[in-house]
Amino acid sequence: MTAQSPIERAEADTVAYEIRDNVAWVKFNRPEKRNCMSPKLNRRMGEVLDELEFRDDFGVLVLSGEGSAWSAGMDLKEYFRENEAKGLGATRGAQREAYGWWRRLRWYQKPTIAMVNGWCFGGGYGPLFACDLAFCADDAQFGLSEINWGILPGGGASKVAVELLSFRRAMYHAMMGENVDGKTAADWGLVNESVPAAQLEARVAEVAKVLLGKNAVALKATKDAIRRVRIMSYDDAEDYLIRAQEAANSYDNEGRKEGIKQFIDDKTFKPGLGAYDLSKQGA
Ligand code: ACO
Repeated sequence: MTAQSPIERAEADTVAYEIRDNVAWVKFNRPEKRNCMSPKLNRRMGEVLDELEFRDDFGVLVLSGEGSAWSAGMDLKEYFRENEAKGLGATRGAQREAYGWWRRLRWYQKPTIAMVNGWCFGGGYGPLFACDLAFCADDAQFGLSEINWGILPGGGASKVAVELLSFRRAMYHAMMGENVDGKTAADWGLVNESVPAAQLEARVAEVAKVLLGKNAVALKATKDAIRRVRIMSYDDAEDYLIRAQEAANSYDNEGRKEGIKQFIDDKTFKPGLGAYDLSKQGA
C-alpha cells in the first residue's frame, strides 16, 4: 500500500466475522487505517450486529481488531472532517450510526467480550464500555487522545472514563492525553484482565466457554441488571431486580427450578462451585 494507491475498502469488508465454537468472533477490519471508525464501518457494524443478534448458532460475541489495532477511535478524516464539510445533518447522521451500534452492543442479547489486541483510542472507548467484559494484551495501548488534537473526549468517552476509572484517574487520563498499557488498563479497571498477547485469544475463549455453560436468559437479565442499577437508588434497584427476574421467568421458568433440583435433590452439582447441567433442563 502506498500513498498513491490507498486502499478503498468496500463497506461490506470493514467488518469481518466468523462463528467458531459457538462464539461470534467479530473484527474491526480496517487494519490499514488502524481500524478507526468511519461512517462505512459504523454502518456495517450496525448491520452485522443486527444480522447476528438472534441467531442460535452462537452464545457469546467477541469484538476484536484485525492487525495492530483494536480501534484507533473515530476516523478523523471520514467521520469528522468530511462530515463537517457536508453540514450539520451529515454530522448528526454519522453520530447516530456510531452511537447507535454502541448502544445496541450495550444492551446486546448475548454476552459480549472486548478482546483488545492493540491500540484503543477515544471513540473506541464507546464499544469498549459497551462490551460486558474486556480483556487485553499487555502491550495494548489505551488513550483519550482527543485533547492531543484539540477536542474534548466526546461520543461518550468522558462518560466511559468516569464510569470505569476513579475521578482522579479519569481527569488525568482525559487532560494529559497519555497512553496506558494493558497492565495499567487492568489495574485501573478499563479491562478485566491483561495477558501476554500470545495468550489473549485462548483466555477469551476460556471465558466465553464458561459463559456458554450458563443459563442464557439469566445471563441477559444479569448483564442488563448490572448496567441498570448503577444509576438507581437502592430502593429503585431492589424493585427493578424483582421485576427483572419475574420478566426473565416469562422466557425461562424452568431453569432455576432445574438448578435447585440438581443441587438439593439430585446432588449432582453445587452452585457455589459452578453452573448446573443445562443439557438436563427439559429432559
Ligand atoms: N483517523 C483517520 N485515519 C487514521 C486514524 C484515525 N483515527 N488512525 C490511523 N489512521 C490512518 C493514518 O492516517 C494512516 O493512513 P495513511 O496510511 O493513509 O497515511 C494509517 O491509518 C496508518 O496509521 P499510522 O499513523 O501510519 O500507523 P502507526 O501504526 O504508525 O500509528 C496510531 C498508530 C498511534 C494509532 C496512529 O495512527 C494514531 O495516532 N492514530 C490516531 C489515534 C487517535 O487519536 N484517534 C482519535 C481518538 S479521538 C476520537 O476518537 C474522537
